[in-house]
Amino acid sequence: MKIGAVRGMRDILPEETPLWRHLEAEIRAAFRLYGYREIRTPLLETAELFSRGVGEATDVVHKEMYVFPDKKGLLLALRPEATASVVRAYLEHGLYAKGGLAKLYYFGPMFRYEKPQKGRSRQFHQYGVEALGSLDPALDAEVIDLASYLVERLGLPREGLFLRINSIGCRRDRDRYREALRDFFEPRQAELCSDCRRRLSENPMRILDCKHPTCQPAIQAAPRSTDSLCGECGAHFQEVLAQLERLGLPYELDHTLVRGLDYYTRTVFELASKDLGAQDALLGGGRYDELAEMLGGPPTPGVGFAGGMERLVLVLRERLELELGRELDVYLIPIGEAPEVKRTAAWILAQLRRAGLAADMEYLGRSLRKATQVAARLARYALYLGPDELARGEVKLKDLGTGAESAQAIGAFERPEMLKRMLARG
Ligand code: HAM
Repeated sequence: MKIGAVRGMRDILPEETPLWRHLEAEIRAAFRLYGYREIRTPLLETAELFSRGVGEATDVVHKEMYVFPDKKGLLLALRPEATASVVRAYLEHGLYAKGGLAKLYYFGPMFRYEKPQKGRSRQFHQYGVEALGSLDPALDAEVIDLASYLVERLGLPREGLFLRINSIGCRRDRDRYREALRDFFEPRQAELCSDCRRRLSENPMRILDCKHPTCQPAIQAAPRSTDSLCGECGAHFQEVLAQLERLGLPYELDHTLVRGLDYYTRTVFELASKDLGAQDALLGGGRYDELAEMLGGPPTPGVGFAGGMERLVLVLRERLELELGRELDVYLIPIGEAPEVKRTAAWILAQLRRAGLAADMEYLGRSLRKATQVAARLARYALYLGPDELARGEVKLKDLGTGAESAQAIGAFERPEMLKRMLARG
């Protein structure tokens, strides 16, 4: 029997990797502009990090986490997200003691045992930022501005995007809000799905992000978290919104937005795209002012977001594919089987590569027409070398974009500057 990839885990093939690299480079550049520095944390963490940080009652931990004991019986988890890991690393390395704000960014695979569908897989890749050490509402707005700048920079049209925002307040506000929700949903249990009936006793806020159609009418009529905010949290949220207005970032207040992870406090947000269907969140984030303490550290406010690379690829693939498809500068097509032609072709290739040009050759002996089609898919230029060209000490150069052809002296390949000039002209 053939062995396949694990369900929900996908190979990213060479046709797609240029797009991934392009996105990663653009995202890195945007993060750098906003003052973030890269951190890389392990894929494996103790399961306890997530049960304490993300929350035992969340779907992410309760249903979706890959957990297994190591050889000594220590319970490990494949990380389902990176915020808890980043805060763990921040505490473990005493980054707080170094003073100031820690602005960190990351890329990497995350793992959740979810039902695979469009935009949702079991191994997926996130890019994200975490700013640790400040309560300033300007930082919430800055993080949202970064998310918005990022999608602009990547060329996503603004019309299809919307920013949802809400505030769920501090721990006391949330306790009050949970009570309000419990009082509201208790008499309406018959209107809820079985998962939500469980959530009612564990954490009624989780009911608000249930997507089950039966639960929607009750969810829409439920009390709003913004009505339970204390004075300080209310003022914080008003300032975040005022900053967004000053930055010219349109938003939608979404009272059902509570996000699927328990560490959030105050601001929560998502940037969604209408091109994505049911899993429409391009990225999501918010504040988590109590997470560091939940992990045993000193009080350290934080705010950040993460987005799924796969979802960006889905919305950008068609837009960018053509521009990114050709990774080679030159595709060399030897004509015929004459050993001297093949040897000269191999020599030309070696010179091109040493001159810093990505070059490859037709090794399969396909017809001129077929090989030229392959060249057009992979490279910007084709070079043709047959016995006639060799006798004249020339190769034929073809610009695969414009179709322009010219003869070039084989001797020119000994001089990299000449080569570069030749290819710049086409
Ligand atoms: P999250 O909303 O669970 O938040 O995930 C963030 C993003 O990751 C989602 O908006 C989505 O684009 C992508 N994503 C999540 N699950 C999947 C999946 N199964 N398949 C494909 N893409 C997926 C967090 O993870 C928080 N750590 C974000 C954060 C950072 N909050 C504060 N700082």
